[in-house]
Formats: sequence, structure tokens, C-alpha cells
Amino acid sequence: MNFKNKVVVITGASSGIGEAAAEQFAKKGANIVLVARRKEKLEQVEKKLSKYSTKILVQVCDVSDKEQVKQMSEKVIEIFSKIDVLVNNAGFVIYGKVEELSIEDIESQMQTNYFGMINCTKYFLPYFLKQNSGHMVNVASVGGSFGVPGIASYCATKFAMLGFSEGLHHELHETNVGVTVVSPIMVRTSLFDHPSFKNFTKFATGISLTSETVAKAIIKASDSSRLEIVVPSFVRIGIWFKQTFPFLINPIIGNRFRKQLDKRDS
Ligand SMILES: NC(=O)c1ccc[n+]([C@@H]2O[C@H](COP(=O)([O-])OP(=O)(O)OC[C@H]3O[C@@H](n4cnc5c(N)ncnc54)[C@H](OP(=O)(O)O)[C@@H]3O)[C@@H](O)[C@H]2O)c1
Repeated sequence: MNFKNKVVVITGASSGIGEAAAEQFAKKGANIVLVARRKEKLEQVEKKLSKYSTKILVQVCDVSDKEQVKQMSEKVIEIFSKIDVLVNNAGFVIYGKVEELSIEDIESQMQTNYFGMINCTKYFLPYFLKQNSGHMVNVASVGGSFGVPGIASYCATKFAMLGFSEGLHHELHETNVGVTVVSPIMVRTSLFDHPSFKNFTKFATGISLTSETVAKAIIKASDSSRLEIVVPSFVRIGIWFKQTFPFLINPIIGNRFRKQLDKRDS
């Protein structure tokens, strides 16, 4: 797709994957709306992107708050009169066993990761449909296909995102509007800076990705007819095995991640 003069709204653009995606879209000539709660961080990203001759709009907005999302969406349309790509990327995770997490810990993850995506989708979808063009990219996780001990409530938000996106994908079949989920494995970002990860060994084993790798997948997703892009793609084989032979794969996943929880407790 030619992104010149396209309007790309990215939530969670103040760091990590969102920031990297903003830079790659800007490099391709798109106008970017940077959405997150921390104004100073958004302004730093805006400054970094000023070398690309595109329009950058900073919108301080908590995506879990319907009213703030409504105002943000109205501002985007007032300024640009359209939206071409919406990247629902804002999210966070709290680490710990379900017995340790409060109901509020579980609710807040759903409120941002799932309902944040719902709020943005609901306020922008009428414009996509009116234009009969554009694409929504929802950043889920491989944790949207595996229930992992220690992040059960986070996984639930991503399972929900995947299920919602699949239904919406079918509903949009007759239109020129698309929705694609990007599901990465572990990415080296500040997601794991949450205090609950204090005794967690970050990126120690297995594969971890850079934000730029995921940003490239987001660019690809924004012009794709596929429902889900898994990053890296070979992990899809693992998902297939898990769905086909859960009795073989689930004990392996359980053991591997329970060990990490136990290590934290020792
Ligand atoms: N890192 C990984 O291993 C990994 C793997 C798979 C999927 N993901 C997903 O990738 C997405 C981006 O995460 P990341 O790894 O790039 O982490 P990150 O660097 O911590 O970025 C998270 C972003 O979300 C924003 N955010 C959080 N709550 C928000 C809210 N209520 N309203 C608006 N913005 C909010 C944060 O900005 P403010 O604090 O300024 O609001 C920040 O810009 C998340 O959805 C995460 O679940 C990450």
C-alpha cells in the first residue's frame, strides 16, 4: 500500500511497539496520530518523527475511558477528515497467580487491552464504513492462543480481542474495510517494567523480538486480508499443535511457565 498522506491512528504510541510502528508509518509518508496517556513521552516521539515531512498529532487519551476516546476520534476527523489505519496497540500486563491478583487488577487489564480496543473500534468504525475503506490492526499476542500461568488475566484480554476481531472480520466481508490481528511472542519493550515483574527473568530464554520487527508486521497487516499474523510466523505451527493436540502441548506449556512462577517465589 502507498501510505503517502494516509491517516494512521496508533494507540500506545508513547513507547515500544506503538512508537516503532509510528516511525515506520511516518517513514512511508503517513500522517500519524500518537495516542497514549503520557504527554511528555508522546511529545518526545513527536519530536523524533519531526524529521519525516508528515503531520504528527499528539492526543493524550486513556483508551479505557469512552468519553476520552470519543473526543479523540472527533479531533482526528475534525483535523484530517478521514482515518485510513487504526492500530489498537495500547495494553499492559500484571504478572501473578490469579489468587494473588485483585479483581481490580484483572478488570483494569480487560478495560484497557480489550475495551480500549472496543472503544476505539466503535468510535472509528462508522467513518471506515462511510468511506468504505481502511483497516484496523489489533495487537494481540501469542498469549491470545495459549492460557499461560502467571498471566491468565492478560491472556484472557487477548483471547477476547482475537474472538471479537474474527467476528468483525466476517461482518466486514462485503465491505472494503479490513481487520487484522497481529500476535507477537515476547517483545523487548517496557511492558515488563510493571512492578509485578520484579523477580521475573526477562527475555532470558526462548525467542524475543524487537519492536521494529513487530512494527513491520503491523505495516503488513494494515493492507492484508488475513485475520491473524503471528510473529514470528513459525509459531503458528505451535498454535496449530496446541489446538489440535491440547493434551500433548498444554502440559509442556504449564510446566515451563509454572517453573518461572515458582522461581519468582523461591
Ligand atoms: N512486549 C511484549 O512481549 C508483547 C508481546 C505480545 C503483545 N504485546 C502487546 O503489544 C502492545 C504494546 O506493548 P509494548 O510491548 O510496546 O509495551 P509498552 O512499551 O509498555 O507500551 C504500551 C503502550 O500502551 C500505552 N497504554 C497503556 N495503557 C493505556 C491506556 N489506558 N490508554 C492509552 N494508552 C495506554 C502506554 O502508554 P502510556 O503509559 O503513556 O499511556 C504505551 O505507549 C500491548 O497491547 C501488548 O499487550 C506485547
